[in-house]
Amino acid sequence: MTTAQRPIEKGEVLLEGKGISKGFPGVWEYLILDHIDFDVRAGEVHTLLGENGAGKTVIANILSGFYSLTSGQLFVRGEPVTLRSPRDGLEHGIGMVHQELMLVRTFTVAENVALGLKAFGLSFPLRRVEQRLRELSERYQLQVDPRARIEDLSAGEQQRVEILKVLYHEPQVLILDEPTSLLTPEEAERLFEVLRGMAAEGHGIVFITHKMKEVFKVSDRVTVLKLGKAMGTKPISETSEEELSRLMFGEHIDIHIERKPVRSEKIALEVQNLEALGPEGEPALRGVSFAIREGEIFGIAGVAGNGQSELIEAVTGLRRVTGGRVIIFGRDMTNRSPREIIEAGVAHIPEKRREIGVVEPMNVAENVVLKDYRKPPFSRRSILNIPYISRHSEKVVAQFEALVPDLWRSQTRILSGGNIQRLILGRETWRRPPLIVAAHPTEGLDARAIRHTWGLFLSLRGEGSAILLVSEDLDEVMALSDRIAVMFEGKIVGLVEGAEARREEIGLLMAGIRA
Ligand SMILES: Nc1ncnc2c1ncn2[C@@H]1O[C@H](COP(=O)(O)OP(=O)(O)OP(=O)(O)O)[C@@H](O)[C@H]1O
Ligand SMILES: [Mg+2]
Repeated sequence: MTTAQRPIEKGEVLLEGKGISKGFPGVWEYLILDHIDFDVRAGEVHTLLGENGAGKTVIANILSGFYSLTSGQLFVRGEPVTLRSPRDGLEHGIGMVHQELMLVRTFTVAENVALGLKAFGLSFPLRRVEQRLRELSERYQLQVDPRARIEDLSAGEQQRVEILKVLYHEPQVLILDEPTSLLTPEEAERLFEVLRGMAAEGHGIVFITHKMKEVFKVSDRVTVLKLGKAMGTKPISETSEEELSRLMFGEHIDIHIERKPVRSEKIALEVQNLEALGPEGEPALRGVSFAIREGEIFGIAGVAGNGQSELIEAVTGLRRVTGGRVIIFGRDMTNRSPREIIEAGVAHIPEKRREIGVVEPMNVAENVVLKDYRKPPFSRRSILNIPYISRHSEKVVAQFEALVPDLWRSQTRILSGGNIQRLILGRETWRRPPLIVAAHPTEGLDARAIRHTWGLFLSLRGEGSAILLVSEDLDEVMALSDRIAVMFEGKIVGLVEGAEARREEIGLLMAGIRA
């Protein structure tokens, strides 16, 4: 009997890496992964925990065949293997769900799955794919319509498609790279149940996160990575948040916030009866009004898809307003171009960081000066001032401790998700802008970077900047906001003072239930 045919026993090591090392010579001088031992067993969820740039995505890519190893050896059920491609990984029973969604937006769910099937492509009978997807959805409680088009699905639904796409191959080991970053708290809870269920069935699950709370909800064991080194592997019952935090950062991160009252009465941003359409031409904003004072953080809470994205796009000039007005520092800026709005003093930390936040094929320095390079001292008569740009980019990158190998030679594409976010935060805040429109500013950041960002937002607020903050992280909205508006179905359904906000009340409003 070959290994693949032998029935799996609970606790059997399904996938193991010994001394896994990975370097990117010419880019980084040190090893990105430095002799890491890691294994996952049948029936468990083994979590990989680490701060931004620790190497979580790289190790996941190695375990699933996307990247080759520099040195070390992988074993599948005890047999040494070399994985040459993700397909090879799948054939060995290892599937990975990536940190970023990788679906073809104009195709249906079933078509996306069919695309990944060997030798069939779209000539494969779609009915069979659809049928099988229905079975898998049912079995793993991952509801999606196989005939729905990807662009019509929410981020949470798209994520389910990514998981189903991998489950279609019936992997024994499922690796999920920060799967909860796109999910609402309820969706995340449901995913944890699904993962626990899969583990109970005998799968081995590798779950990647930098969120401490999640570790204790879902894991059997946890391994901490720090700058490419394994800091230790612990059964979850034998460790604590403090211990893991110390392994992750070398210190325990406690986030404590102090806020003085808003002093100014001057209005920075006002929207009046704002209306705009969503991606399908449906009304997405249905008469939104509010005003934010200088030195005030105005938080918007809500479940994704209730008009928050459209609101941010309308204010920053990325979406046409069909009714109402946007007034910035007293000037009517309704339907002005993004450039005019930037010129009016508005910084934007966008939701789609890789698509809108940066230009991935450009290098890091170019991305840092993306909005400034036309002006002195960054350039004069269309000639870039390279030494100045270098010094400036270095400062911006250092402020958020973004891990960047070389400002001019590294494409931004190679940065880890959290490091791209740091770059954007640095670029958008260095000039101390009077108005900041921030969508999920700390999504993908580890605790230390979150603390830094929150501290920066509060100090900007203290200097008089107004901040429109949209976040799905209720802790964040509650910690930072002077006032909190809750959006539901394109309207503001509740407005509370930050200091008086109660979590339960906001939660009910988010679900469309009036207090
Ligand atoms: N193709 C590549 N070429 C060069 N360097 C790379 C490449 N891919 C990743 N790196 C580097 O390897 C390091 C680890 O990156 P990785 O994406 O694994 O971090 P991570 O732990 O997943 O972080 P995050 O929480 O931000 O997602 C980073 O410094 C990153 O820039
Ligand atoms: Mg990552």
